[in-house]
Amino acid sequence: MTRRWGPIRSLLILAPLLIGAPFLAVRQHYSLPEPITELINPQTNLPQLSETAILSHAKYLSEDIGYRTVGTREHALGDAWMLKKVEEIQEECERVVRESGGERKLECEVWRQVGSGSHRFDMMSKRLYKTYVNLTNIVLRISDGTPDSKSHAVLINAHLDSTLPSPGAADDALSVGVMLECARVMVGLAAAGKWEPGYAVIFLFNNAEESLQDGSHLFSTQHPIANTVRAAINLEAAGTTGPELLFQATSEQMIEAYSHVPRPFGTIVANEIFSSGILLSDTDFRQFEQYLNVTGLDMAVVGNSYLYHMRKDLVEHIQPGVAQHMADNALALLLHLSSKDSNLLSLDAGYTRPRTVYFSFMGFFFLYSFRTALILYSSLLCLSLGFIYVTFIDPSPALKAKGFEKLIGKVWWEQVRGLAAYMAGVLGALVGANVVAFLMSKVLRSGMSWFKEEFSCLVLYGPPSLAGALISQLFIGKIHEQTLLTSLLLVQSLFAFAIQLSGVGSCVLLFLTAFPLFISLTLHYSGITARHGKAGKEISLWTYVLGQTMPLLTGTQTICAILDFFVPLTGRIGGDAPADHVIASIVALTGAYTVPLALPFAHRFGRGVTSRAVVTLGVISVVLMGVFAMRNPFDDMHQKRLFVLHMENITTGEQHLHIASADGAPGFNSLVSAIASEYDAEGNHPTSVIMDEYNSDWDVLYPFSAFLSPFLIDMAVDRAYANESSVAAGKFITVSAERDFVDRENGTRSLTLVVDHPGVIWTSIAFDAHVLKWTLDDNPPDEYARHHIKEGSFYGMDRWTVDLVIKLPEPTSRGLPINFVGIKEQAMWPGKKAEKEAGGSAMRLFEKMDAWFEETTGGTVDPMLMGCVGGISIV
Ligand SMILES: *[C@@H]1O[C@H](CO)[C@@H](O)[C@H](O)[C@H]1NC(C)=O
Ligand SMILES: *[C@@H]1O[C@H](CO)[C@@H](O)[C@H](O)[C@H]1NC(C)=O
Ligand SMILES: *[C@@H]1O[C@H](CO)[C@@H](O)[C@H](O)[C@H]1NC(C)=O
Ligand SMILES: *[C@@H]1O[C@H](CO)[C@@H](O)[C@H](O)[C@H]1NC(C)=O
Ligand SMILES: *[C@@H]1O[C@H](CO)[C@@H](O)[C@H](O)[C@H]1NC(C)=O
Ligand SMILES: [Zn+2]
Repeated sequence: MTRRWGPIRSLLILAPLLIGAPFLAVRQHYSLPEPITELINPQTNLPQLSETAILSHAKYLSEDIGYRTVGTREHALGDAWMLKKVEEIQEECERVVRESGGERKLECEVWRQVGSGSHRFDMMSKRLYKTYVNLTNIVLRISDGTPDSKSHAVLINAHLDSTLPSPGAADDALSVGVMLECARVMVGLAAAGKWEPGYAVIFLFNNAEESLQDGSHLFSTQHPIANTVRAAINLEAAGTTGPELLFQATSEQMIEAYSHVPRPFGTIVANEIFSSGILLSDTDFRQFEQYLNVTGLDMAVVGNSYLYHMRKDLVEHIQPGVAQHMADNALALLLHLSSKDSNLLSLDAGYTRPRTVYFSFMGFFFLYSFRTALILYSSLLCLSLGFIYVTFIDPSPALKAKGFEKLIGKVWWEQVRGLAAYMAGVLGALVGANVVAFLMSKVLRSGMSWFKEEFSCLVLYGPPSLAGALISQLFIGKIHEQTLLTSLLLVQSLFAFAIQLSGVGSCVLLFLTAFPLFISLTLHYSGITARHGKAGKEISLWTYVLGQTMPLLTGTQTICAILDFFVPLTGRIGGDAPADHVIASIVALTGAYTVPLALPFAHRFGRGVTSRAVVTLGVISVVLMGVFAMRNPFDDMHQKRLFVLHMENITTGEQHLHIASADGAPGFNSLVSAIASEYDAEGNHPTSVIMDEYNSDWDVLYPFSAFLSPFLIDMAVDRAYANESSVAAGKFITVSAERDFVDRENGTRSLTLVVDHPGVIWTSIAFDAHVLKWTLDDNPPDEYARHHIKEGSFYGMDRWTVDLVIKLPEPTSRGLPINFVGIKEQAMWPGKKAEKEAGGSAMRLFEKMDAWFEETTGGTVDPMLMGCVGGISIV
């Protein structure tokens, strides 16, 4: 008999596992293919997907053309470029057919769809209407030329436009490049006789997503071939690194289709979290679901989400291999779904809600039906129950059971105690991490100190989580090490089964950790891995090795996915969100999932060791808090998002600077004060402004404006610039009423509201009224309410209208007050830097200001600078 190892020695022995498993999981999680450069594979002489070609398209769009915000000249340039590109593919198609003497069955059709429309677009529980004039989509359909092939199609979509302050290289020029490259390769394969379109493939290069999905709405509601779509694949990006994640698969059929991709990366967990709606994100996929009622796959690049919708969303920051990964999967899906062997046709009769558990793990893709899942999980539960019952050794046979303990039996009473220890542990971890979060954000005023590295929060909140978990055990009393292991097995297998029974497949995460634990305990019981001590079979470190490996692997993958998403997100969810507490809780919970055997391990060595560990962890936590408190949350690649509007109120002639941030990091107030002392001629203090439905200054960003905490600075109106005012320059908004008719008898007024906005884009109006009827949709709310209507139109379109019937009396005796705002097309920094002269005084101010920001903040702030006009009209 050997002496049992102490805690330090045991940890050292386990160290290779504790370090190696997460290391492997991280490597696997982020692994990407080698990028390919050549267009033609030199071995096979067949066309192949080239990352170089994809990125050159993305670069052309995002740098040669630039910021393709809906309504700008660059947006129109993107449209023209796209049309040229697909026409080149069409010519290639025709050449292939011609040169094959008509043998190749291939047809490429091109549309430049132009259309106007409106739709309701609720977001963040705000009711909102979008209207658009003459927006465009570029559509390419590849089929075999027969009506049969054209009548069922798979759609693939990416958006050509970029959002307000971003050149949009990853979001979404990258996907546009991927689609072009897929089309080129497909035509090439057809030419070589290696592929023939059974069902058609529709490439939708939609030119208005960031204006709230107008392009996909236009296609879905007005395009002549929209009704042939049976499945939709959407390509997006909210980041620039890592493999492309499948985060929505809305049917059995599409999960099956996805199993054909060469590099699967997705899990039912992401799918279920996204479809629960808690993430407040949205893609074009919503329009395809809503207006085409089709199923599909929604995929996006999600790593390094710091650059999402920022100036630095540039090709140089897209990680090598990202484009290749996206393209390899996209092409495989298109080739599969367009083949007559796929189940695309069956989708004509409708699709079935997903009832499949799927996940990619260490490079493999697993999928099995919910039925199989139930059989697996219930079997494990039964085995676990049996195992626990049979192997139970009464820790205190001398004591007689009484009360509740007697009722359920000593076996289960012990498991309940083990369970209580776990619950206390998880609670303790949450408390420990949140105490540190509170101290950091409220006492030390160093919130979000972990922001610039996704995983640094593990360092800050990991030790206090563990300390909290261990402290809780000091209150729990002595529990046998083996009991803790069996009760963990029990709770995991029980919840895996119960959650699956309720139809939620994400519980696969529990099964994945419970099953190896079961094996590990069985091996222990059979004596293979047990130590034979004086008390009979004792738990050996092998049990820990076998039981802890899976949690480390799956837990690390889960942590990667969650932190990649949530840490950068805290930079844009508003100053009121308790970012530190959210992240601290995530660390505590995912930590509890990843190292569940920490508790049995603590009980293995008893109270003395646990107390010492708590003290050590406490000291470590304090030191780390000091270190983190000295860190700047931001740096030049993980910048603070700052929103700056130069607002010219054409009703009052005043000019204001509106400044807002979207995060809760400290230092914003002093930054605003610095701006005020630099730019407010009168030396006034900046005024903090309330953000609500009635703050129309920020309506160009509505409803995202709800996340902003804005300040206002009075700008002296420089007399030298008086002649440059928007009114003088003819760049302003007027709101008027036409076909105005008051029906006293019915108590109604009907009118056409006309918004003229030469040189101004993204106009937005807001008003209070009881609307009975309008041309936006068929059911305006039947009450007096505030309405927001936003417009996004093609370059040069400077008029939109909406017909209204409203209930009298109106809010004022003079008529209906309408708040309006918009952005001057030529006054957006840095998008319009190259032609700043045309932007007048606003652009001169922005140029100075941008340089000032760069200097005072050391490049840690990315300001979005926009010249706006606004005012109020009574119609
Ligand atoms: C929209 O475009 C069409 C032609 O593409 C044009 O005839 C029409 O006048 C445009 N609409 C507006 C409001 O400019
Ligand atoms: C949409 O498709 C689903 C599944 O095929 C079907 O059950 C549902 O009735 C359809 N809804 C509409 C509005 O067509
Ligand atoms: C503004 O324009 C008016 C006439 O258009 C001109 O008389 C005046 O000198 C201009 N003022 C400045 C400051 O340029
Ligand atoms: C007024 O109400 C009557 C009956 O309710 C209806 O027939 C008529 O069309 C209404 N007039 C207007 C202008 O809506
Ligand atoms: C412009 O000024 C008017 C009058 O003070 C005010 O009601 C309106 O909200 C202002 N609009 C903007 C966009 O600043
Ligand atoms: Zn996008």
